[in-house]
This record gives sequence, C-alpha cells and structure tokens, in this order.
Amino acid sequence: MALLSLFDHEKSRREEEILASGNGTAQLSVAVVENDFVGRVYEKLAIVYDLAFGPTLQPGRRRAIAQMSMGPDVRVLEVGVGTGMNIDLYPPDCSVVGIDLSGPMLEKAHGRMIRRGLRNVRLLEMDAAHLKFADKTFDIVYAPYVMSVVPDPVAVVREMHRVCKNGGRIVMLNHFRSANPVLAWLERALSPFTVHIGFKADLDLPAFLAQAGMAPVSIEKVNTPRIWSLVTCVKE
Ligand SMILES: C[S@@+](CC[C@H](N)C(=O)[O-])C[C@H]1O[C@@H](n2cnc3c(N)ncnc32)[C@H](O)[C@@H]1O
Repeated sequence: MALLSLFDHEKSRREEEILASGNGTAQLSVAVVENDFVGRVYEKLAIVYDLAFGPTLQPGRRRAIAQMSMGPDVRVLEVGVGTGMNIDLYPPDCSVVGIDLSGPMLEKAHGRMIRRGLRNVRLLEMDAAHLKFADKTFDIVYAPYVMSVVPDPVAVVREMHRVCKNGGRIVMLNHFRSANPVLAWLERALSPFTVHIGFKADLDLPAFLAQAGMAPVSIEKVNTPRIWSLVTCVKE
C-alpha cells in the first residue's frame, strides 16, 4: 500500500513537471489526419514507395536494427511495416511481427517476404492505435518512420508500451520538428501539405514524449541530412 502511494506520488510529481514545462499541453502538429485519409495516401504511395523512400532512408533503418543488437529468439513487433523495407535486416533467429493499416503496402511487404524466403516474419493488417496483442508480448517494439504518419502518435506509443515486456525496448525512428526556430516555423507551415505525401513535417518531440510520459535512454541523429532521430526508450 505504502509502495503504491509512493508510486502515485512520483507519477503525479512527474505529471506536474510535464505540465509546468508547457510540453504537456503543447500542440504536437498543426496537421490533423484520420486513418481513412492515411489509408488513401498509402494506397497511392504503395507503388512508388520503395523508390521514393527506400535508399534515402535506409541508413537510419540499418542503424536502428544494428543498435538493437538482438540476441537469438527475440520477439519484435514492427509497427507500420509498410512495404517491408526492414524485414530482411533483422537477424534470422529473431521472430518478427509486422503490422500495417494499409493493405496495398502489406501486399508489397508480402511479396518481399516471399522473394527473400523469410520464414521468421508474420504480417498482419492492424491499426497501431488498437493493437490486438496481449500486454507484455514483445521484447522490442519498433516504429520506423511511422509516428508522424498516424493520427494520434501518443495513443500509438501507449499501445507500443503496453505490448512491450518489462525491460524491453520501444524504438522510434522519425523526423521531428527542428530545434532551429526558422526551420521549425517552416516545418509548421509545410506540414498541412506534406501530409499528402505521407507525413507531418512538424511533430514536436519534447511535447510528444511529455504527453506520452516517455523518457528516452538515447536519441541519435541518423540519415543525411541528419534531420531524423532514433529514439530508444526502455520499459521500466
Ligand atoms: C512512412 S511509411 C513507413 C514504412 C516502413 N516502416 C519503412 O521503414 O519504410 C508509414 C507506414 O505506416 C502505416 N500506418 C499509418 N498509420 C497507421 C496506423 N494507424 N496503424 C498501422 N500502420 C499505419 C502506413 O500505412 C505506412 O505503411
């Protein structure tokens, strides 16, 4: 009982700190999207996705999986697996479940899985904000280039946290709003347009982490230019 009230006290102290910082209520992005809209965008993008977003974003994908340094039998959930650009980067002795909202993107991923003969990957159509997995199922829950695509990134990361085992990792690879005020202003101005090519340009990382109640153990800049962040959190 005493331990519980200490925990509650710590939690409310953290919540007060978040609200005092202004990040607890700050706007995450000016762009508002719904799943239907996102689905339509990726239905169109599926055919050109690998060409447009393949090689340019591949160094970040490689770095993310290298820094996970997975041992054998690790269970990974990839949220927003898309056309499967990551699926052959995982060690063959780990098991991977890839979920995505978009049927056409998943069809591409399925084709890649067959062509590469991957037996450790399972693909499922699912909304990241409503994961159909039990609590504490996966060792690593990874969302590559997804957080600025979904309507409610806080709901998604909470679901990622729920299905992650205690001591497991929640990893996000994403572009976030710049700390440079001029670039940040530009990203806010462009965001209502960039959603039409699949992402919000202005997702605010400090506000996002504060509202999700997540404290990363590392944030690394990746890709060229280095405007992409690899954010790793550990579930306590
Ligand atoms: C930019 S792509 C990233 C694909 C892949 N992870 C990669 O590294 O190339 C974003 C993906 O997230 C998916 N997505 C968007 N909203 C989603 C949601 N609510 N639940 C699951 N997947 C979603 C899209 O369909 C798309 O395939």
